[in-house]
Amino acid sequence: MDFINQTGWTDFVPVVDDDAARFLQLILQIKRPKNILEIGTSIGFSAVTMALTARQYGGNITTIEFDKTAAEHADMNFKRSGVDDIIPIELGDARQIVPGFSGNSFDLIFQDVSKRLYPVLLKDCIRILKAGGVFMTDDALFPVMELDPKYHDQVEPICEFNRLVAASKDLESTLLPIGDGIMVAVKKQQ
Ligand SMILES: C[S@@+](CC[C@H](N)C(=O)[O-])C[C@H]1O[C@@H](n2cnc3c(N)ncnc32)[C@H](O)[C@@H]1O
Repeated sequence: MDFINQTGWTDFVPVVDDDAARFLQLILQIKRPKNILEIGTSIGFSAVTMALTARQYGGNITTIEFDKTAAEHADMNFKRSGVDDIIPIELGDARQIVPGFSGNSFDLIFQDVSKRLYPVLLKDCIRILKAGGVFMTDDALFPVMELDPKYHDQVEPICEFNRLVAASKDLESTLLPIGDGIMVAVKKQQ
């Protein structure tokens, strides 16, 4: 997406890459999820990416970030992109916020937060996702990539998460080699 290069956002923090951004927009176009949850806003690149598609059909995105400075940048980017009216930011720790959502609240969840939280948040992500809802997680292929050593401690939690998702009786899932790997799952109809 030219957007990344135009804004220079990637110069300053890790955000989803072009292919992952395009894939998010494609899934939104296919599925048209009304209530979207993003866990891990950063400066709002993936949220804006999704919002540009979601606003076409009346969707909205709740996004969670605990870093106040990042959230302020995100808010600025939402306003600049004209999507602030459909992206409420929840400022706080996902470990506290996610368990507080009611069951079956979201049509799509995109998780791109601290990798150590992936296995920790999984049960709640399944609980708050509607049946038939889509669950996507970025960086799922870290375990098979050549990574900068600073990311090595993120490999084990992602391995654990991938195993838990594959074994879940509530999810149909697959791992796609898009960007740094996207785990895509659908919550089964009970
Ligand atoms: C990889 S970045 C998100 C990038 C964003 N999805 C994008 O592509 O534009 C991960 C973000 O999660 C935030 N984060 C990490 N742990 C968190 C937690 N426990 N609660 C809320 N946010 C957290 C970090 O501050 C960081 O901004």
